[in-house]
Amino acid sequence: MTSVHPGQEEALDRQLGAYCRSRPFRDASRPQPGNPYRRPIAFAGGFRLWPEGGDACPVGPRARLLGHRVLFNIYEQDLMFLPRRPWDGFQRDFSSFYDPALQRVGQKLRNPLEVRLFDLTDGSDLTAPEMWEHFDRVIAAHERDEGAFRSAILGSADPERAVRNFLVQCAGDFLTEASAMARNLPGTYGEVQSELFKVFIDEYGYGVHPTKHSTLYEALLRDVGMDPSAHAYWHLYLTTSLAVHNYIHLVSQNHRYFFRYLGALYYAEATYSHTCAIISGTIREAFGRDVDTRYFDEHVHIDRHHSRMVRDKLIHPILAGFGDLVVSELCAGFDEFRDVLETSGSDFLEHLRFVDAETLRCDRDAGVRAGSILRPTATGALDVCDSDVVYTLERGDGALVCGLDCERKMMPGEPIRVPGGRMHGFAQTTPDALVRVEPVS
Ligand SMILES: [Fe+2]
Ligand SMILES: [Fe+2]
Repeated sequence: MTSVHPGQEEALDRQLGAYCRSRPFRDASRPQPGNPYRRPIAFAGGFRLWPEGGDACPVGPRARLLGHRVLFNIYEQDLMFLPRRPWDGFQRDFSSFYDPALQRVGQKLRNPLEVRLFDLTDGSDLTAPEMWEHFDRVIAAHERDEGAFRSAILGSADPERAVRNFLVQCAGDFLTEASAMARNLPGTYGEVQSELFKVFIDEYGYGVHPTKHSTLYEALLRDVGMDPSAHAYWHLYLTTSLAVHNYIHLVSQNHRYFFRYLGALYYAEATYSHTCAIISGTIREAFGRDVDTRYFDEHVHIDRHHSRMVRDKLIHPILAGFGDLVVSELCAGFDEFRDVLETSGSDFLEHLRFVDAETLRCDRDAGVRAGSILRPTATGALDVCDSDVVYTLERGDGALVCGLDCERKMMPGEPIRVPGGRMHGFAQTTPDALVRVEPVS
């Protein structure tokens, strides 16, 4: 990918500001459940992604979060979203999200953001047999993983809440599942194209809506008392979760990375079956055996099949045709996607520890009542700070929010320390609430 030319930084940051201040993404637009077009980026106070010095300057945690939010929205302005029902002002929200002028700004920012947010590797110099050995070794190690996930969820202060917060992180992708894959379908590239199409139509339930994978995910969300509409929990996505979704969009949107996409797809399909078995079991342990885990159970089965399809019907024929020309790209996609997924998995568990530590003393209400829907807290998108800060409530009533149903009521004068890079927000319970935020020296 091309990097930013010196002197262009300021212009890019100006365009970034214009994009963030537009109607769908500006801070005044609170997340509204059922409205897929309002996605506040939390730009207030501004941020620069391209300071003088350009790509050489590291990207801090806050710029990384906001950058990923922007990139995610740029990709998703290509996708079709309709709510279940319109509301007053629907046409305005719909039109502003798909505004061609806004999309043009996004398209100017897309490639520079991809360069800034991802360190794409050059791949490896393995031969094809070495590549398969590497793939087999990684997949076998993954199958031996007993699941730090399971013990972290079940050992957390509130396993049901921990599961819900995990489902929030997946929702950004699973409710639009395989949309990035769809970017690879048009064009003409022989039998491999038709084989990829077979995987794709499995993801879409062969056109039978109740069996579409995203529909199964909606059913699970509903069953555990969550809102199944797209991006109802937009403001809670962690940076590393957005990075997973954005990586797949990146290698799908840029067709020069088609072989990299195939490597990433193979990693996903070859490991997801085992991952889903652990997740499904954990959810049932947290919520009881009757919870609707069909989404994950379906993947335990179908991704064994998809893994074979990708290996035998996609990658083998591609190697037969293009051989050494594409091995390094296949490896790069496989390794990079493993990397973003592992980073996101461990970051979520770290966030869970933070949530547990911060909410242990909070006086949450009795939790979720049967049939109730957990709504996003009345605050804008959560944010992160670049370094540790201390929050102190000066007046009024307010709460520190760090996830779904993760609110800690703040006591006047009591300092609460939030580590740099940890997502959180402040919710006013009374209109006069005022909080002081101080960096830790
Ligand atoms: Fe799927
Ligand atoms: Fe699959």
